[in-house]
Amino acid sequence: MYNQTKAWVLEAGQRLRESMDTDPRIEYKTSVRDLVTEKDREIESFFVSRIRHAYPDHDILGEEGIHEKGLNDPQQGWVWIIDPIDGTTNFVHQKQNFCISVALYEKGEPRLGFIYDPMAGELFHAIAGQGAFLNDQRLAPLTETKVEEAVIGINSLWLTPNKHFDFKPLQALVRDVRGTRSVGAAALEMAYVACGRLDAYLTLRLSPWDFAAGLAIVREVGAVTSTVHNQPVQVFEKSSVLVARPGLHQAIIDRYLHSPSARR
Ligand code: IPD
Ligand code: CA
Ligand code: CA
Ligand code: CA
Repeated sequence: MYNQTKAWVLEAGQRLRESMDTDPRIEYKTSVRDLVTEKDREIESFFVSRIRHAYPDHDILGEEGIHEKGLNDPQQGWVWIIDPIDGTTNFVHQKQNFCISVALYEKGEPRLGFIYDPMAGELFHAIAGQGAFLNDQRLAPLTETKVEEAVIGINSLWLTPNKHFDFKPLQALVRDVRGTRSVGAAALEMAYVACGRLDAYLTLRLSPWDFAAGLAIVREVGAVTSTVHNQPVQVFEKSSVLVARPGLHQAIIDRYLHSPSARR
């Protein structure tokens, strides 16, 4: 199953790489900030047809909804969670810094996670209980770090007034850390926490396909993951996500997010 999924992910990445010479047809979903291209749909269809053929009993949850059948009880059985292109805005504007994210869960527990950046040739992958890898290299368990020495991933939009969260504790956090980065692809940012390029990643509203593979990968290196209210992330629901090195996660919760003003 692992080898087969890996081959699918690599093939899908190659299709995207080969498509880069032609500008994709773009449509708006909910607004001009919310893009979808023919490639998002094509790559999701690619996975759906292969999964249906190989595993007709499995459920599929993909961002573009290509698999029209609704989910059965996701806490039972096998569910594939697919983001065909995570970072569509980067795909369109930068032609890099996007990824394919594919996860397989059994009874609500991660079994496989793949995050593939086809332009960088970087495949992050994990089999539950067997460690996480970047290409062929096993990722080391994460060590602790302090807030003041941390580089964290955060979308600057969360530092402005928004309906999800009091932004002031986040302003204090970004003032105290060593640096902030915004890659613009949630799955990739989780993969970067797994390999130590980011010490933490914090975001206020993601969907299952944004974080399902990331959760499978970061837990293999001992990253701590929760919602910004320090609750477990429910993989089949929209959620905020704070993923960080051990120690740093607790410090961010205690010093910034757990303050009464951060709870809404
Ligand atoms: C988006 C990216 C982005 C995150 C958004 C996601 P998409 O995914 O991961 O970094 O901030 O919340 O929706 O739409 O490019 O797959
Ligand atoms: Ca999208
Ligand atoms: Ca996404
Ligand atoms: Ca997407």
